[in-house]
Amino acid sequence: MPTILQALVDRRSERHFSNRPLEPEVVESLIEAFRWAPSSNNRQPWRLLIAKDAASIAAYDDALSEGNRTWATAAALKMVVVGNPDEQPDRNGMQSFMLDCGLALENLLIQGCALGLTTHAMIGWDIDKVTSAFAIPAPMRPVALVVAGYRGRIEDLPPDVQAKDLKPRTRKPAEEIVVWSRFG
Ligand SMILES: Cc1cc2nc3c(=O)[nH]c(=O)nc-3n(C[C@H](O)[C@H](O)[C@H](O)COP(=O)(O)O)c2cc1C
Repeated sequence: MPTILQALVDRRSERHFSNRPLEPEVVESLIEAFRWAPSSNNRQPWRLLIAKDAASIAAYDDALSEGNRTWATAAALKMVVVGNPDEQPDRNGMQSFMLDCGLALENLLIQGCALGLTTHAMIGWDIDKVTSAFAIPAPMRPVALVVAGYRGRIEDLPPDVQAKDLKPRTRKPAEEIVVWSRFG
């Protein structure tokens, strides 16, 4: 049975990076993984902003929460997932552009891990700083930050960050999250 289950199980959000730059074809493959995500009505209400010049990389680092700044600044590739609500109408009272953006983000994370990279999504950042530093036009909004890079050495991280990376990965058991037929 062909399956990508093992790749999904092996994906993990680590925090260590080497200073080796990513080859252009590696960056292209991350972009391709992002681009081929499914979306409602194939609206693709997303943009992938990549911090390229020194000023945008510095602004990226500055917008991170203090906790994320301790490790994410070392990543070779710094990206912002930007969503456009106008390109995907809300459904059932839900901002469904966020769902589409999340699927594209996960595609990128999985491809990164399959390539042996450290890839890590972040919610810890300042929305005003990100919006203004990257001139994100309304009604678009940043949805997630995500970094990628070749793996480094866990021993080089500060002890508190090492502890986070060494924490065993856990998930709720299937019996807790799968509902057969109906709730109750
Ligand atoms: C949308 C999103 C935002 C996240 N934000 C952060 C963050 O700001 N800082 C951080 O260290 N990890 C962040 N994470 C990583 C999660 O903590 C991680 O996915 C979770 O603990 C499960 O671990 P795993 O990805 O290794 O399976 C984020 C993950 C997602 C999907």
